[in-house]
Amino acid sequence: MTETIYDALRESHAIQRSLCRRLLRSRPGTAERTALFTELRLELAAHEAAEERHFYVPMLMHDAGLDASRHALHEHHQLDELVEELQVVHKAGRGWMATARELSAKVHHHLREEEKKFFQLSGKLLTDTQKRRLATAYRRDRMRLLKALAES
Ligand SMILES: [Fe+2]
Ligand SMILES: [Fe+2]
Repeated sequence: MTETIYDALRESHAIQRSLCRRLLRSRPGTAERTALFTELRLELAAHEAAEERHFYVPMLMHDAGLDASRHALHEHHQLDELVEELQVVHKAGRGWMATARELSAKVHHHLREEEKKFFQLSGKLLTDTQKRRLATAYRRDRMRLLKALAES
């Protein structure tokens, strides 16, 4: 069976959940914490951009998809702001961990809302052909972005 955009997005969501869990368990001041944070930062950035282009743009073209898409894009922006706060050299201390926990909670909330509400809504708006084509476009763009972001 050919995969749809939902399969591709769920796969990315699973990566994000796992990275959040591992980041919260990491010890302060370790190279592991820095590496996990970088991986999560790049993964979130690549996913958000590719998802905005290949999932939310098609949804925005429908009147019934406006509210959900705007809400999700706003949350992407909030996630970006938390990531920016965390991007300091010294990733230790209570303040850093409290913000990391806030980011993880927000990521989990956002993914749950997408999977439980927005996937269902868009399922009624997009055609089957679109759902398949968007999966390919999303995957290609995410990979390209991951590479570009890692090199920048
Ligand atoms: Fe999202
Ligand atoms: Fe997502």
